[in-house]
Amino acid sequence: VEANAAWAEEVRALARKRDAVLLAHNYQIPEIQDIADFTGDSLALSRIAASSDASTIVFCGVHFMAETAKILAPHKTVLIPDARAGCSLADSITGAQLREWKAQHPGAVVVSYVNTTAEVKAETDICCTSSNAVDVVRSIPADQEVLFCPDQFLGAHVKRETGRDNIHIWAGECHVHAGINGPELAERAAANPDADLFIHPECGCATSALYLAGEGTVAPARVKILSTGDMVTAARDTKASTVLVATEIGMIHQLRKAAPEIDFRAVNERASCRYMKMITPAALLRSLREGADEVHVDLETAARAKASVQRMIEIGK
Ligand code: 13P
Ligand code: SF4
Repeated sequence: VEANAAWAEEVRALARKRDAVLLAHNYQIPEIQDIADFTGDSLALSRIAASSDASTIVFCGVHFMAETAKILAPHKTVLIPDARAGCSLADSITGAQLREWKAQHPGAVVVSYVNTTAEVKAETDICCTSSNAVDVVRSIPADQEVLFCPDQFLGAHVKRETGRDNIHIWAGECHVHAGINGPELAERAAANPDADLFIHPECGCATSALYLAGEGTVAPARVKILSTGDMVTAARDTKASTVLVATEIGMIHQLRKAAPEIDFRAVNERASCRYMKMITPAALLRSLREGADEVHVDLETAARAKASVQRMIEIGK
């Protein structure tokens, strides 16, 4: 199946017939991003899913994102074009592991990144995203212990920003972002001294970027630690003519659309998420034709998970 005009027409017609809204994450292949009704970061898409009038959501992204949409809109049908599209970060902690960790720290407040399964969210006090993790942790009284999971690099960022020493960080990581390393970033930054650096906090290189700023290799104002959605906003605002982007390479497509005059370059061109790329034109077509793969979350887990997502929404954006 090729993403040509006939494909696009069939996708649109089937979506209309199913009363479906098509959502695509910023890491999807360009053809999927372009056919979607909305493209964005994981949280923005879940919110659109919850507020849209459509009775069916087709979530072109990974499984935890489609699950979050289902948690926020339990009465809607949520489809993911390939249910095998997982996430190495969400897989790095299970509900049982989190329960065991909590038992070792009674009374601690659990903060989990949205890149987690519904089961983990159900064991969580407050969810967070890459753009609000610092605010979420700041909202917790300073004398209360915090368990932060599952991403160690986002955790390190939060710890640095809040200066908190009673925060315990789970040692999980995303294999794609962990692979974008400091030496590679340092080399790119040195070769492009006027470029802005847009860095996703899941990157292993986020600490190195701040180090480069600290030692004066890069102007501190040029280092921006951002979620994928915030990268699009920053692209519209920056005066830089070149931007080095440290995240999954699918992101470059939305950035170029938002600011065509800027030269966006991936810090690591091999940083491609194989799970995101499972959502192919053929998979989307099959999903719409067959009404598959449907995402289910049992009602009790969904209700508990929803409470942690809602607490986050009440704290900030
Ligand atoms: P965002 O929430 O920033 O879209 O990131 C999701 C993700 O999977 C990052 O790898
Ligand atoms: Fe998960 Fe990493 Fe892929 Fe994002 S890029 S979906 S965190 S495996």
